[in-house]
Amino acid sequence: MKRVWRNLLLLAVLVAEIVLILALSPDYTRPNLEFLPDMAHQPRFNAFAANPSFANHATLRAPVPGTLPRGPLPLGFSASPEDAIRAGQELVNPFREDDPKALARGKVIYGRFCVPCHGETGKGDGPVARRGYPPPLPLSGDVAVEIPDGQMFHIVTFGRVMMPSYATQISREDRWRVILFVRSLERKQRRPEEK
Ligand code: HEC
Repeated sequence: MKRVWRNLLLLAVLVAEIVLILALSPDYTRPNLEFLPDMAHQPRFNAFAANPSFANHATLRAPVPGTLPRGPLPLGFSASPEDAIRAGQELVNPFREDDPKALARGKVIYGRFCVPCHGETGKGDGPVARRGYPPPLPLSGDVAVEIPDGQMFHIVTFGRVMMPSYATQISREDRWRVILFVRSLERKQRRPEEK
């Protein structure tokens, strides 16, 4: 008999539970009651959202004066042919031809990145060109020697026609160093009597 009462009690509790759940009809789209949520939910603004906390209503703050940038500064040139000309007028190779370390590094970069198309001596006969890629003009030819260093930097940075951009593979400094090496190739081939 005792067991019957106990089972009836359990059944009553179960029914009460179901009734309660249905009566409270929980909204599953909302989080449950959180005990001590601490900093889980904070008021926040998206980077480009308007923000009433600041006078200019911008969420993004300007860096404090004296902040040192990480990585290279913007170049200030776009990939356009006009900017290639402007680069030729405005940019100067920071490395000098009497800098053997820069020249040696330029040679390494040339061997890694330029030889495939331009060839060991810049004649445009690299393995890729020999297998059908449109061969470039010789780097010590009349066209290339007339290209100022800055414009050459622009070509290596942004590419030109079939010449790919090397901005992501070769650092800015190394792009200047490889140009130093290209100039030394030119000198050797155009004026072999000089060293
Ligand atoms: C995938 C092949 C390829 C690679 C690799 C390549 N170039 Fe070129 N390059 C070309 C082609 C093709 C041209 C001709 C572009 C044109 O028609 O304007 C060219 C043009 C140039 C020019 C302009 C000179 C001229 O006579 O037109 C320079 C300078 C130059 N490349 C330098 C480099 C340097 C430095 C590297 C290595 C960092 C390099 N290139 C890697 C294909 C390549």
